[in-house]
Amino acid sequence: MSSNDPLLQPFQLKHLTLKNRLMTSSHEPAYTEDGMPKERYRLYHQARAEAGLAMTMTAGSALVSKDSPPAFGNILAYREEVVPWMRELVDSCHQHDCKVMIQLTHLGRRAAWNHSDWLPTVSPSGMREPAHRAFPKTIEDWDIERIVADYALGAEHMQAAGLDGIELQCYGHLIDQFWSPVTNFRDDDWGGTLDNRLRFTHLILDAIRESVGPGFIVGLRLVVDEQMENGITREVGLEIARRMVAGGQIDFLNVIRGHIDTDAALTDIIPVQGMAASPHLDFAGDVRRETKFPVFHAAKIADVATARHAVASGKLDMVGMTRAHIADPQIVRKLAAGREQDIRPCVGATYCLDRIYLAGEALCIHNPASGREATMPHEIEDKSADPKKFVVVGAGPAGLEAARIAAARGHQVIVFEATPQAGGQARLMTLSPRRREMIGIVDWRVEQCDKAGVEFRFNTYAEADDVLAENPDIVIVATGGLPNIDILQSGNELVVSARDIIAGDVKPADEVLLYDDGADHPGMQAAEIIAESGARLEIVTPERQIAPDIGGTNLTPYMRKLLPRDVRFTPCRRALGAARDGARIRVKLGSDYGDFESERLVDQVVVEHGTRPLDEVYFALKPLSTNLGAVDYDALIEGRSQQVEKNPAGRFKLFRIGDAVASRNIHAAVYDALRLVKDI
Ligand SMILES: Cc1cc2nc3c(=O)[nH]c(=O)nc-3n(C[C@H](O)[C@H](O)[C@H](O)COP(=O)(O)O)c2cc1C
Ligand code: SF4
Repeated sequence: MSSNDPLLQPFQLKHLTLKNRLMTSSHEPAYTEDGMPKERYRLYHQARAEAGLAMTMTAGSALVSKDSPPAFGNILAYREEVVPWMRELVDSCHQHDCKVMIQLTHLGRRAAWNHSDWLPTVSPSGMREPAHRAFPKTIEDWDIERIVADYALGAEHMQAAGLDGIELQCYGHLIDQFWSPVTNFRDDDWGGTLDNRLRFTHLILDAIRESVGPGFIVGLRLVVDEQMENGITREVGLEIARRMVAGGQIDFLNVIRGHIDTDAALTDIIPVQGMAASPHLDFAGDVRRETKFPVFHAAKIADVATARHAVASGKLDMVGMTRAHIADPQIVRKLAAGREQDIRPCVGATYCLDRIYLAGEALCIHNPASGREATMPHEIEDKSADPKKFVVVGAGPAGLEAARIAAARGHQVIVFEATPQAGGQARLMTLSPRRREMIGIVDWRVEQCDKAGVEFRFNTYAEADDVLAENPDIVIVATGGLPNIDILQSGNELVVSARDIIAGDVKPADEVLLYDDGADHPGMQAAEIIAESGARLEIVTPERQIAPDIGGTNLTPYMRKLLPRDVRFTPCRRALGAARDGARIRVKLGSDYGDFESERLVDQVVVEHGTRPLDEVYFALKPLSTNLGAVDYDALIEGRSQQVEKNPAGRFKLFRIGDAVASRNIHAAVYDALRLVKDI
């Protein structure tokens, strides 16, 4: 794309020239160590900076006070030791002319009290937040004084570290907990009139300005319409924005619409796959028009065409493409080089965000290098000194990734795929309209493979002889798995798999028992299809909650489909057996909690219990390989090539990746492939 691309034009923010219109909005990937942004954190932002991003808004909710304890690995901005760590990060980004700011906050009621310093949380009126469940104390005058000073100190630390600016988080956190009638029903100087509700904000801005001076950039990431009963309306939100601008203390508005006090509400602010793209863009444009002030905004602006439209149409000054940069930090580089088609698409899986709560770190479902910059490359630049012939069996995510990396390394690659199309289980997921965006994981890889000269042989169920006929140096078995439904003590022949339902191979019956012992998407995806068919559905699981491996934002669309329908949820029950009873099936249920048996009589039993590896070709080839299939895990982890020699008479090296090894997920599959093949 030529330099007249609206996205590649600079933006002047006060004294600061942002070299293009793309930024990442604040997002806490939970890569901190002891609350500090150390090497992993720095390299993550540096990767975006090197690739041409104009500005990175670091942290997510960097904390200014001890009674705002980390909810998801947040940076502790109140500690002085943060200064040198942030300085290193800033310097590494500034080297590439990428500006660095940070989001500061006090979480107020949006935190838990039962860790860190075990201090009570605070909020204006002591109201509990459903998502974090702490019962906060009602904030007192001395708390306010203390927290205002803490904001000023946090800002001072960031200025000392050389940052270009800060933004204050004002949606769902303490500042706007004062603004909103939902969380503030005080009748003293801090509640009631808008002047009173804004008093805390003005004190903070005054204190910050006193400590950092007028030149430092300070912005607000603020809610302008809470879109909830009794909440901040659009009119009030705009009035708040106008007053903030008129106060002369701030330099930009980063616009939010919605509320975040429940997982479901958060999902409307950070929409997942299947939800509308850029849902708040026009609204952010309205705020820009009404305030005539620099406006930033991010919410599922996942592709550069929409981002370009946002700038060209005057809706935004800076476009946040946050998850898009987790999926591909090289967006700007590729854009500037006319390689827009090579951008790895963000498919909205929101594995990244859900993982900060579920597993303590953000990872992209299909970019295993994001957050692993110290060890994993985003782009394969080094060709192998010793080009080889690869045969990859299976064109699901694991096989495609292995083929893509091998071809990028300069190897010759042939891929055998039994079906007419690439994609494997990932393609299966896309059969549900709501998960269609997942096809990007497949399509992008196929396109990259095509460009690099990978030869695909579809409709070819490769047996060992087919592989041997190619005389390969390296064989990668990525054959995936088949539904594992042989898990009942009796009656396994009477059940169908969740994947049969998703594929449309089996239609839902009238009354269905879905036994979800997988705890992840396939069970819920099947549940959605069954419920939508009009069937009566009972979801039984041995877990103590529904689908515990699905995070809050991903669970939301499932619940929105299931709850209005005839669905019963039964946790803590294990399916033991099934037996015919006339035209119906009698299911025996037990429980891990004791000898509590019960029965159900239904028309259909659907079971989800992951997959079992499709590994015949692997075991057929194993005795013929030099390494007998063995992987040196230390070499794999440390980034060295695989040198295992167990069978000198062997003809090739053999590796098995993805679900062909064990039932896991797409991230595991592509990570298996990347870290193995990048060193061959
Ligand atoms: C892993 C992750 C952590 C996030 N943490 C924060 C946060 O601490 N503060 C914040 O204002 N937004 C946070 N966000 C929201 C993003 O700033 C952004 O609003 C959201 O991802 C929507 O933009 P996108 O569609 O471009 O990703 C987070 C997002 C992700 C993916
Ligand atoms: S996990 Fe999904 S939403 Fe998150 S960055 Fe990756 S593709 Fe995008």
